[in-house]
Amino acid sequence: MSSLPLAELIDLDRQHVWHPYAAMPNPLPVFPVRSAKGVCIELEDGRTLVDGMSSWWTCIHGYNHPRLNRAAHEQIEQMAHVMFGGLTHQPAVMLAQRLIELTPEPLQHVFFCDSGSVSVEVAMKMAVQYWCSLGKPEKHRFLTIRNGYHGDTFAAMSVCDPINGMHHLFRDVLMGQYFADAPQIPFEGVWREEDIASFSALLENHGEEIAAAIFEPVVQGAGGMRFYSPEYVRRAKELCQAHDVLLILDEIATGFGRSGKLFACEHAGIHPDILCIGKALTGGFMSLAATLTTREISQTFAKGEAGVFMHGPTFMGNPLACAVSLENIALLHSYDWQSAIGSIEAQLKQGLEPCRILPAVKDVRVLGAIGVVELHHPVDMKVVQPQFVDQGVWLRPFGRLVYTMPPYIIGPEQLSLITGAIYKVVSAL
Ligand SMILES: Cc1ncc(COP(=O)(O)O)c(C=O)c1O
Repeated sequence: MSSLPLAELIDLDRQHVWHPYAAMPNPLPVFPVRSAKGVCIELEDGRTLVDGMSSWWTCIHGYNHPRLNRAAHEQIEQMAHVMFGGLTHQPAVMLAQRLIELTPEPLQHVFFCDSGSVSVEVAMKMAVQYWCSLGKPEKHRFLTIRNGYHGDTFAAMSVCDPINGMHHLFRDVLMGQYFADAPQIPFEGVWREEDIASFSALLENHGEEIAAAIFEPVVQGAGGMRFYSPEYVRRAKELCQAHDVLLILDEIATGFGRSGKLFACEHAGIHPDILCIGKALTGGFMSLAATLTTREISQTFAKGEAGVFMHGPTFMGNPLACAVSLENIALLHSYDWQSAIGSIEAQLKQGLEPCRILPAVKDVRVLGAIGVVELHHPVDMKVVQPQFVDQGVWLRPFGRLVYTMPPYIIGPEQLSLITGAIYKVVSAL
């Protein structure tokens, strides 16, 4: 592939290419990347950045991993893609089998989809179709908790936090859902039943209309980077069962070890009726997500009007993505990933603690391989993004949150560079 001169690349990007949550033309700086390897991102201008973002929770084993590359090459030699309607293939079946082994036992059926948002759409459709199949179409609304984030498509947006989730902008088209107060008791806090009172009251008053509760277990990600008590998740499961409401857990961000357990629901020792996974599923190699459910739920569809589940993405079960995902999961299990996360957690706690006394800082919290410095005021990205790049790290704060979720393969020196850069930049605010 021929390449563009750097200045022209930046200019064309500004004029024509839309970036996530960006204006057109984009007034914020973007940094052209030449390549990425291990935990480093090499910019076109020659600078190298230590990655503190794992490309939005995905690249758990870093970039350009030889094992993932090899898996992709080998699969390309067979086929990069083939439709999934009426056809099947080794990578999809083997991946489904592996996911069933890794997730809680009642989850037996795997629906592959293209992105996290789609996997949430699929989960919500599954819940609605389940109740329709049982002759209860009135159960079509959802209960969720404030500060959640589930994606940018319409059904997913309807269960995102109503304040920071763009509800105002799209109020005429979003489905109305029920929002329980966000959990207040932190991950290791002492449980008080009042924390779940609002969730419980909504089920009590509206349970007959609610198809499912949906939330991110233990770690609320893009809606606020909050860590809350696993007891909330346990109690929510009990309450859902008591009110005949399904439980959908969104582990798109937390899945595959990020919180210290393979899946965050393991902190609570419970399993959902429907589970959404994505992001780290392919180790950040390419987009793939999945929605898993129980036999009981999927087999109910046969009793309904449609008889089948009404969803089928064009690129469903893409063989290339499935093959890479299988290798990514094998890679994760080829070393003691739990110790690696434990070391990252310990170092993040130590490295970010000095931030706590800085005037700009409201809170510092760490869980697994997630470190968060919450500020009193939102950062100015135009100012702080280049400052982090000048420190030799890649971090992408949002709102009042400066945070890192580095690749699991990061070394102590590289992680020190990240925590040091956070301290320096936040000190100067
Ligand atoms: C918990 C959670 N759910 C869903 C999504 C949406 O995933 P995607 O961006 O792949 O559509 C995200 C993305 O950040 C997420 O963190």
